[in-house]
Amino acid sequence: MKNVVIFASGSGSNAENIINYLEENTNFRVNLILCNNPKAFVLERAKKLNISALTFNRTAFYTHNFVLETIKTAQPDLIVLAGFLWKFPENIIEAFPNKIINIHPALLPKYGGKGMYGDHVHNAVVANNETESGITIHYVNENYDEGAIIHQATCPVLPTDTADDVAAKVHELEYEHFPKIITQLLSE
Ligand code: GAR
Repeated sequence: MKNVVIFASGSGSNAENIINYLEENTNFRVNLILCNNPKAFVLERAKKLNISALTFNRTAFYTHNFVLETIKTAQPDLIVLAGFLWKFPENIIEAFPNKIINIHPALLPKYGGKGMYGDHVHNAVVANNETESGITIHYVNENYDEGAIIHQATCPVLPTDTADDVAAKVHELEYEHFPKIITQLLSE
């Protein structure tokens, strides 16, 4: 049995999709969700799905070793950032080399970096009249959205598309590709 720890900050629809996919299709499992926002809907999903979840604050993440020690206890084979919005601290990155991956809702290196998350990304894509967008799954390093790219998938952006339309297309790509890439990495 291989373990996956998920970090999420908000709704957690990707987290739920990954949990269900692994349960239905593999020997792997999500055994812990870590969340920086006590009001995030992902915590409701965790409860419903019977997955352990813990919240933490900035001090526990950046100053003390609380989050690092908690992750170690869960013995993850992969750490997955699924809609997690805080920068990852170097001590955790160093403790889990090549074991931390993120999904970004655009085609990096475009529309990445600080402040580029969720709807900000899709608004910028529409404002710039892009004809395509998509997802990027990549390793996490000490800079936002700059780790080595593992996988990208694209979707068309039509002239009539709103940011919400793009978000919906990108979410569909995320649901389709992210669990498969996670399974692939765990199978290597
Ligand atoms: C996803 O679209 C994910 O790609 C994005 O947040 C959304 C979370 O949705 N992540 C980022 O923007 C990270 N920079 P979810 O909470 O429903 O899974």
